Amino acid sequence: MTDHILIERRGAVQIIRMNRPEKKNALTRAMYAKMSAALSEGDADPAVRVHVFLGVPGAFSSGNDLADFLVIATGGEGGNEVWDFLMALAKAEKPMVSGVDGIAVGIGTTLNLHCDLTFATPRTLFRTPFVDLGLVPEAGSSLLAPQILGRQGAFALLGLGEGFSAERAKAAGLIYDVVAEDALEGAVLAAAAEIAAKPPQALKIARDLMREPREELVARIKLESEHFRERLKSDEARAALTAFMTRKKG
Ligand code: COA
Repeated sequence: MTDHILIERRGAVQIIRMNRPEKKNALTRAMYAKMSAALSEGDADPAVRVHVFLGVPGAFSSGNDLADFLVIATGGEGGNEVWDFLMALAKAEKPMVSGVDGIAVGIGTTLNLHCDLTFATPRTLFRTPFVDLGLVPEAGSSLLAPQILGRQGAFALLGLGEGFSAERAKAAGLIYDVVAEDALEGAVLAAAAEIAAKPPQALKIARDLMREPREELVARIKLESEHFRERLKSDEARAALTAFMTRKKG
């Protein structure tokens, strides 16, 4: 299993830390698989009461590894790891808290739409350049973002690929709070500890009530995924992915 995802337990809190700093936490299939396993194992374990997602300093995640996307775009196998992770997120039984510092692109943004509380730092920029990559929104974001941001805010995020600073994201209801970089993990873990101290059964019912109907979310993720898989094989996507993977940095 990859050490690009580190799993740690602190009391009743399970920390899932993305740890591939050299690629700004671009997510590979193995990383998705490890995160899915952690969510389901944590959900099944009564000792765990809350899941926490963290990245590394300056990078929550730069999104799906574009090299993996290019494999699919050029006729290769994609596997089920991303799908399994999206299902694990949508169906997670226990509260999820995220701490975002810096880069939050693609799934690095949309993952947070599933979280119950997200903290971000002033240097964070949320961005989903799906359309610019010839792709479409994923992870249920086409359903969740309009609910949170309204139709036009969602279009700015998902259609135009506009960046949302942490302040803008907070004002728009996308995240819970903005905290300084050196206070991020403390704030996230304090919130997680507060959640973990609540009566778990009442909290579960309250959370489920706020999330119903999940069937609609799952159906939307399925529809998005069908489009996404098709789009990955499009000329638009192949050109955009090839341009990124062969770009010259200067
Ligand atoms: N997939 C694969 N590799 C990625 C990646 C991704 N999503 N994001 C970054 N990387 C790699 C870069 O290719 C680079 O690798 P190298 O050092 O071997 O050349 C390394 O991570 C560092 O990235 P770099 O671009 O140098 O850092 P930066 O701080 O200048 O820019 C980003 C960071 C995230 C803004 C930029 O890398 C980017 O736009 N990445 C693509 C994001 C994206 O489109 N994600 C998919 C959304 S669906």
